[in-house]
Amino acid sequence: MTDHLTIVTHPLVQHKLSLMRAKDTPTPAFRQLLREISLLLAYEITRELPMTTRPIDTPLCPMDAPVLAGRKLALVSILRAGNGLLDGMLDLLPEARVGFVGLYRDPETLRPVQYYCKLPEDLGERVTIVVDPMLATGNSSAAAIDLLKAAGARDIRFMCLLAAPEGVARMHEAHADVLIVTAALDDHLNDHGYIVPGLGDAGDRMYGTK
Ligand code: URA
Repeated sequence: MTDHLTIVTHPLVQHKLSLMRAKDTPTPAFRQLLREISLLLAYEITRELPMTTRPIDTPLCPMDAPVLAGRKLALVSILRAGNGLLDGMLDLLPEARVGFVGLYRDPETLRPVQYYCKLPEDLGERVTIVVDPMLATGNSSAAAIDLLKAAGARDIRFMCLLAAPEGVARMHEAHADVLIVTAALDDHLNDHGYIVPGLGDAGDRMYGTK
């Protein structure tokens, strides 16, 4: 763990991640596991949210009870695989506003090409959590965060399931202010830009498209 990278080593996260990595894990189980892990990662990425207190009455007495300080949240999913993390996050943070950024990787250059962008209007007033299961080259994630900053976002965090060292380095170089929370830092990228050992193509495994 460094200042800008948190690896969630909790046994439940690691166990579920191993089930997801296994190539014989079927699509419905893969999706369910991703949803469950997203709750556990969300717990970590929201750890530093500012708190305040509010006077309430319990059945026994009045108390000043801790509550979130009201800094509003935005979740931004990088399509399409980000949606697998988004669903669980929304269970936990139902009031969050949601944005979508559509980027695909050019298979030749591995560079991101934008095809969709729809963001909440007041990003500057929100803590923005970007979700994408795989931080591979980091090019798409860095490009998505460029868009968010151009739209006014200031306090940005990035949540993924797996990260490659190359992706972490790229993100740090482009956006050193962005905290990354991941379940694992894998070994390397292969020649096709896949994370090794990884889990394959997250979108395909989530939606059964291959
Ligand atoms: N995207 C994926 O879905 N898997 C990888 O290993 C890398 C990028």
